[in-house]
Amino acid sequence: MRDKRGFTPAGAFLLKSIHIAIRSSPSFSQSPSPSQLRRSFSASASSLRASMAPRDPNTLANYGEWLTKHTTANFKINFEEQRLEGSVVLELESLTDRLSREIVLDTNHLSVQSVKLDDSSDSKWALKYRIEPYGAPLSISVPEGVAQGRVVKLDIAVETTKDCAGLQWMTLAQTGNKKHPYVYSQCQAILARSIFPCQDTPDVKSTFTFNITSPLPVVASGVPVPSDSTSKDGEGGKLFRFEQKVPIPSYLFALASGDLETARIGKRSVVATGPEALQAAKWELEDDMDKFLAVAEKLVFDYQWGEYNVLVLPPSFAYGGMENPIFTFATPTIISGDRQNVDVIAHELSHSWSGNLVSCASWEHFWLNEGWTTYLERRIGAAIHGEPQFDFSAIIGWKALEDFVSLFGADNEFTKLIINHKGVDPEDAFSSVPYEKGFHFIYYLDRLVGRENFDKFIPHYFKTWARKSLDSFEFKKTFLDFFENYGNAEIKEKIAQIPWEDRFYKPGLPPKPEFNTAYVDSCLALAEKWKHEDYKPSASDIESFNANQTLVFLQAVQNFASPLSAERSHLLGTTYSISSSKNVELKSAYYLIALRAGDKKELSGIVDLLASVGRMKFVRPLYRKLNEIDRDLAVRTFQENRDFYPSTTKGQIAKDLGLK
Ligand code: BES
Ligand code: ZN
Repeated sequence: MRDKRGFTPAGAFLLKSIHIAIRSSPSFSQSPSPSQLRRSFSASASSLRASMAPRDPNTLANYGEWLTKHTTANFKINFEEQRLEGSVVLELESLTDRLSREIVLDTNHLSVQSVKLDDSSDSKWALKYRIEPYGAPLSISVPEGVAQGRVVKLDIAVETTKDCAGLQWMTLAQTGNKKHPYVYSQCQAILARSIFPCQDTPDVKSTFTFNITSPLPVVASGVPVPSDSTSKDGEGGKLFRFEQKVPIPSYLFALASGDLETARIGKRSVVATGPEALQAAKWELEDDMDKFLAVAEKLVFDYQWGEYNVLVLPPSFAYGGMENPIFTFATPTIISGDRQNVDVIAHELSHSWSGNLVSCASWEHFWLNEGWTTYLERRIGAAIHGEPQFDFSAIIGWKALEDFVSLFGADNEFTKLIINHKGVDPEDAFSSVPYEKGFHFIYYLDRLVGRENFDKFIPHYFKTWARKSLDSFEFKKTFLDFFENYGNAEIKEKIAQIPWEDRFYKPGLPPKPEFNTAYVDSCLALAEKWKHEDYKPSASDIESFNANQTLVFLQAVQNFASPLSAERSHLLGTTYSISSSKNVELKSAYYLIALRAGDKKELSGIVDLLASVGRMKFVRPLYRKLNEIDRDLAVRTFQENRDFYPSTTKGQIAKDLGLK
């Protein structure tokens, strides 16, 4: 039945109604299904995998029957037409002894020109009806089937289209030095399928070869193959080759091309960006890069990927950072001239273990990527800036978690640790919840067994699941197995009490631990003063604060029961020089206060920020607030800048503004 799902409009309808039925059944999400239970006791060997129903609901690929072993992407970057042209070769292993006669791959608004199965000239294939929001499955017939364990080769000629959501193309006018065009990809969560046909699920890992032709320098999520032997000028530019020998899920496929130069920021690291921004980017990162790596390697184990580099993207980038292997992609807002936003790099680097080496098996278990990563990021922060930094960052995170829980509602599905994603676009479920609730779960386990013991579990966990994907039930089993056999009776007793069901499925805020408030007390004390109308501020109030302490102060003011008056809000912005700051994190936090206060004088600054930054963390709350205060201006600003934003950002803002 699974093979046929969605291949007709009736099938699509059926799929939708099943989702609705499942989503409204409370028992479904409360306890693991028999197959989940079975899975939690199985290794993830291919043969076992074949006997299970695929556990990722956000792919249409039949990856329980076929498994991508290697992917070769041969693309020419055509800047004039704003598309990638070429072919993708997938090597797929047959997983079943039932001789599966069909391979189903994910595609989304792709132009597929031909498909060759093992060099045969008359392969039968068809792009089926779209199933929102997952795209159109590409079905390829394997007339005789092949024996279990055999590998077939699919050579697919393909071009991206104008509707490709995974690529952001920029004309000369939109880039830093206005001399060259630019393109970058963003595949997480389910956008790889808009660039090439694939099994677009984090449950499948493949090695990759990239053969990319471009007139401009290229970076990708593979190790560059030395250019003297391979790079040659040809039609449409130079050939850039990369190899990724560690198997990675499709969402970590990445490339970018533009006027890029590099500068060294560490032993194994360079930063790449436009020549006009290179020195500032180098200065921002060079102090911390090697320190981050050293701490992370000590906490987990050796870095497995060879190089760790950072690409600083144009300002439209929707995220703070994206952990593409070999090259983390980062927003230029981290280049704030004060080295105060480099925690983003500690975070993306941590993904080299949590997420990239050990991946969540589906977006329902996304907390395994982001919760672990947030935990490692905070451990790195503590090792470099002192223990209270861990709690300091956790306090900032708690505020983000509270904000999302109140936005979604405390009993909303998206506030659970394991989120039911059937029929859901992972983009819609995205929030701080997997980060912070995930962090609090890991941190709770850490405190439960004790730091010294937990630190022994960290490398064990990452070694056990390296190069594999797992779900929450497998995590649970790995944790319990480790501490049941640890030889410590007290710990054994403690772990028997863990309320797994509650932690996995209870919506809303998790239990709040006691935080060490050493770094926040002075920020909160200053906020208290602002509660009094007659408080006369001076620049020296925040002299001793670092930027994150100023942020904590601003967040406390955001939370005041009643807003500041427009005048006092303005006084805050000018006295503390926040309205003129280069730090977008601070500026956007202040603008939320100004909007709430109805300070019209800041509207033009707010509109300017919305027109020049694409990072969703900043622009979505600002649009939501502006919409409450001046809907016309919010809608107009969005309409004027819509082409500046990547398509997912555009979609999310449109939803926030009620335009969709
Ligand atoms: N992997 C995420 C970004 C992401 C998540 C992209 C889901 C698409 C879908 C990345 O590691 C991340 O978490 N970035 C944060 C950094 C922050 C937590 C330090 C961001 O973008 O703000
Ligand atoms: Zn992350």
